[in-house]
Amino acid sequence: DNSSTTPLGESITLSRPIVLGFSQLGSESDWRNANSLSIKEAAKEAGIDLLFENAEQSQKKQFEAIRYFIEQKVDVIAIAPVIQSGWDSILNEVQEAGIPVIIVDRVVDIEDISRYVTFIGSDFYEEGRKAGKYLIDKMAGTSDPIGFVELKGTAGSTPSIERGNGFQDTIKQQDKFVMLKSQYADFTHEQGRDVMRSILQEMGSEIKVLYAHNDDMALGAIEAIEEYGLEPGKDIIIISVDGTRKALEKMIEGKINFVVECNPLLGPNLMQVVNEIIEGRTLPKRIVTAESVFTEVTAEREVNNRKY
Ligand code: AHR
Repeated sequence: DNSSTTPLGESITLSRPIVLGFSQLGSESDWRNANSLSIKEAAKEAGIDLLFENAEQSQKKQFEAIRYFIEQKVDVIAIAPVIQSGWDSILNEVQEAGIPVIIVDRVVDIEDISRYVTFIGSDFYEEGRKAGKYLIDKMAGTSDPIGFVELKGTAGSTPSIERGNGFQDTIKQQDKFVMLKSQYADFTHEQGRDVMRSILQEMGSEIKVLYAHNDDMALGAIEAIEEYGLEPGKDIIIISVDGTRKALEKMIEGKINFVVECNPLLGPNLMQVVNEIIEGRTLPKRIVTAESVFTEVTAEREVNNRKY
C-alpha cells in the first residue's frame, strides 16, 4: 500500500504497485546494457511494475513508447532521450495527461522545463574537462604540436555535445594541441573500429592522441590501431569515458591511458525518485551522479569490482 500526504496536505493513496513506463534509448554500449539492467533490477527490488521499451536509437520510437505509456495510464514516465532536441510537443502531451516525467541520463532541450520533474544523470561537461585536464598533465613535458583525434558518440546527444565542449574548452588554453579529426561513431564498438580505421589510413602516425567519447568506441579503435601496426597506449595515447570492466582490463594491459567514469547504475536512484513523486515530495530539478576517474594505477585495484 503506497499512501502518504503531500507537503500541501493532499493525501495520495495507491492500493496497488506503482506503474513506471521507461523509454530506454537503445542498447549501443556496455554502459547502456548495464543501465537497462540496473533499472530492471531496481524496479523489481522496489516492487514497482516496469513497462520497459527499447527505442533502438530512434526518437520516433521513443515517442511511440511514451504514447503507449499514456494509453496504459502509467503513474510515472521516465525517459532516457537519444538526442536533446525535439521533445517539446511530446512532453506537452504527457503533461496534459497529468503524468509526471523523469529525465534520465541525457538532457532534453525544451522551452518549458516544468514539463519534467527532475533530471538524474552525469555532468558530461565535467567529464570532458577531466579528460582534457589529464591530457594537459600527460603532455606537460612537450612543447611540440600534438595531433589528436576525437571519436564522438551520437550526433545531437548530450554526452557527445558536452564531452566535446568540456574537453575542447580545457585544452584550448594550450595551442600545441591540434585537432586532426573529430568524427561521430555512434558510441558503438563497430563504428569506433571502422571510423578509426579510415582516419588512420588518412593520417597514420601523425595521430598522437585519441579521445573517445566512450569505452566501446575506444575498444573498437584499439583494434584498428593494432591492425595498422601502431601500439595503443604508447604510440597513441588513449583517453576514454565510462569505466567498463573491458576498458579497465585494457588499461591494465597498457592500451588505454585514462578513463573518466560515467556511472550507469541509476536504477536505485530512479526508483527512489519515483516513490518520492508518488508521495508528493518536492525534488531538486537536477540530481547529479557522483563519479571519479581511472588511471593505469587505479584500474588494477578496481577491475574486479566492476559490475559492467
Ligand atoms: O549517455 C551515456 C552514454 O551513452 C555512455 O557514455 C555511452 O557509453 C552510452 O552509449
